[in-house]
Amino acid sequence: MSFDLSMFNTPMIPNAHRVQPGPRVAWTTPYGDVFTIRKIRPEDMIAMRDFCESLSYTTRYLRFGHGDFHLSDSELLHVCEPDHQQCTHLIALMTAGKHQQIVGSARFVMQGNGINAEFAIEVSDHWHHVGIGHRLMTALEHDARERGLRRMIGQVLASNAHMLDFIVDCGYEIHYHPEEAYLKLAIKRL
Ligand SMILES: CC(C)(COP(=O)(O)OP(=O)(O)OC[C@H]1O[C@@H](n2cnc3c(N)ncnc32)[C@H](O)[C@@H]1OP(=O)(O)O)[C@@H](O)C(=O)NCCC(=O)NCCS
Repeated sequence: MSFDLSMFNTPMIPNAHRVQPGPRVAWTTPYGDVFTIRKIRPEDMIAMRDFCESLSYTTRYLRFGHGDFHLSDSELLHVCEPDHQQCTHLIALMTAGKHQQIVGSARFVMQGNGINAEFAIEVSDHWHHVGIGHRLMTALEHDARERGLRRMIGQVLASNAHMLDFIVDCGYEIHYHPEEAYLKLAIKRL
């Protein structure tokens, strides 16, 4: 099954790291865990690889369509240094003392018409159900609105009941996929 890897094929631009950082979101849980959401940077490569490698087989399957999915070095480079004119990639970081790790990742890629953006999201299995996904989607949609985009679209496996519940809770409508019965489209007007 091939699913959603096209999002890694956005071209890199040489000065991508000079893009404006955008707004940051930060919060602390009652247990003292500090979370931050910000745009991804080239120096996040190792943390991003560790994050992807830490995802369970199920989460990788649900997100990438392959439970044994691994990012190659060149894909990792594309992920951490995307073309910021077409793509926004946010990461959620958890800080405990001096240790910081990526616990969530969400991105959209603008589609050719300049109206729609296709998004994808994944959160570390250990940190599901603590609000990271909702905060990532809110921040992603904020960025999309700032760019003047009108619609967010996600391709979700029809069997991914949790994501479908989650994304409906985020205000999305679920539609049949016009070409692939195993996928659903989640759509929200911004
Ligand atoms: C779908 C996914 C991104 C959700 O991420 P998440 O961080 O668990 O999302 P949240 O914690 O914001 O919300 C999940 C649920 O926890 C609940 N929740 C949020 N904060 C909470 C808190 N502090 N305490 C208890 N429950 C909470 C929410 O109400 C939500 O319920 P819902 O799913 O019925 O709407 C995550 O499960 C995931 O990575 N799945 C695998 C990859 C995948 O399927 N990606 C989609 C491909 S596009």
